[in-house]
Amino acid sequence: MAAVLAGIGGFLPPRVVTNEDLSATLDTSDEWIRTRTGISERRVVSGGMSTGGLAVEAGARALQSAGAASVDAVVVATTSPERLCPAVAPEVASRLGLGPVAAFDLTSACSGFLYGLAASAGLIASGTADTVLFIGAEAFTTLVNQRDRSTAPIFGDGAGAVVLRRGGADEPGALGPFDLGSDGSLADLLAVPAGGSRQRSADAGLGHGAVPTEDWYLRMEGRPLYQQAVEHMTQSAQSVLKHAGWSVADVDWFVGHQANVRIVRAVAEELELPEERVAVNIDRVGNTLSASVPLLLNDIAARGDLVPGDRVLLSAFGAGLSWGSTVLVWPDVVADDVN
Ligand code: ACO
Repeated sequence: MAAVLAGIGGFLPPRVVTNEDLSATLDTSDEWIRTRTGISERRVVSGGMSTGGLAVEAGARALQSAGAASVDAVVVATTSPERLCPAVAPEVASRLGLGPVAAFDLTSACSGFLYGLAASAGLIASGTADTVLFIGAEAFTTLVNQRDRSTAPIFGDGAGAVVLRRGGADEPGALGPFDLGSDGSLADLLAVPAGGSRQRSADAGLGHGAVPTEDWYLRMEGRPLYQQAVEHMTQSAQSVLKHAGWSVADVDWFVGHQANVRIVRAVAEELELPEERVAVNIDRVGNTLSASVPLLLNDIAARGDLVPGDRVLLSAFGAGLSWGSTVLVWPDVVADDVN
C-alpha cells in the first residue's frame, strides 16, 4: 500500500516583478541577481491576494487534474500563514466546496512540501484518509523587507498542489520512501523574529510599538545557509536513493527546491547527476518555499519534459533547519501551464 500521486496543479499571482524593477528601488542589478541566484523575475501577491487565495487556485487545478470532486483531507504547507490563528486549510477546504473534511496546516519552510507529502502519505497509510489534497502555498514576500537587497530579490509567491490517493507501492506515482531531518540549533540562520509567542511574551505590557520594524521581517544569513543546503540536500538525496534501491543513473529528473540555481547545481554535481537531468524554473519564480517543488514538477510536466515512467528524485532544504527527500515514478497525470 502507498500514497499515489493522482493529480497536480499550480498557481502564480499575476504581478511580475523583474530584476530591473527591483534595481529601480534597491542598490542591486539584474546582473548580480541573475549570476548569484539564477533568478530573473518572480511573482508577487498584490491587491489583498494572500496565501489562502493562492492555495484555493492551485488546489482547484489539482482536483481537476485528478478528476476528483471530493477528498478526505486537506493539508496546507505554508510559512506565510493567512493569520497566526487559525490554520488556513479548513478555509481552503470550505472555499473549494469539499465539505467538513479533516484539514490542517503544517510549517516547515522550504522543505514544507516534502514534510507535507510524508504527512499526507501517513494519513493514507494509517487508514485515516483514502484521498488527500495537499497544497504548498506561500505569500512569503509579505514577510520580506522590500528595502533589504540581501533578501528581497530571492523570494516569490505562488502555490502548488497534488492529490494523493491510496494505491499500490508498485504503481506509477507511488511515493516513498522518505528521508526527513532537521537541525534546530541553526534556527536563527533564517527567521522572522516578531509576531510569535517569543516576542509577545517578552513584550508583555509594552505593546507592539516597542518592536523594531525590522523584526517583523525575514532575517537571513545567506552564506552558511547555502553551505547547509548543499550538504543536507545531497546527503538526504543519497539516503533516499539508497532506501529506494535506486542508483543515481536511475534518476531521470532531479527536482530540487529552488532556493538558488547554484545550490541545485552544486547538489547535482555532488550526486554526479548530469545537468540535463536537473529541473530548473527559479529564473521565473524565485524561491517560493513550500510551493517550489510542486510548481517545478507541474512546470516540467506541462511542457512535456517530464513524462509518464520518468523516475523522479525530489529533495528540499529550508529554515528550521529542515530537509527531506523522496522518489516516485511519474504517473500519467494532466498538468497545465500555470504562466
Ligand atoms: N545586489 C548587489 N549586491 C548584493 C546583493 C544584491 N541584491 N546582496 C548582497 N550583495 C553584496 C553583499 O553585500 C556582498 O558585498 P561585499 O562583498 O562588499 O560584502 C556581496 O554582494 C556578496 O554577498 P554574499 O551574501 O556573500 O553573496 P552570495 O554569493 O553568498 O549570495 C545569496 C547571496 C544569494 C543569498 C546566497 O548566499 C544564497 O543563496 N544563500 C542561500 C539562501 C537560501 O537558500 N535561503 C533560503 C533558505 S530556505 C527557506 O526555508 C526559506
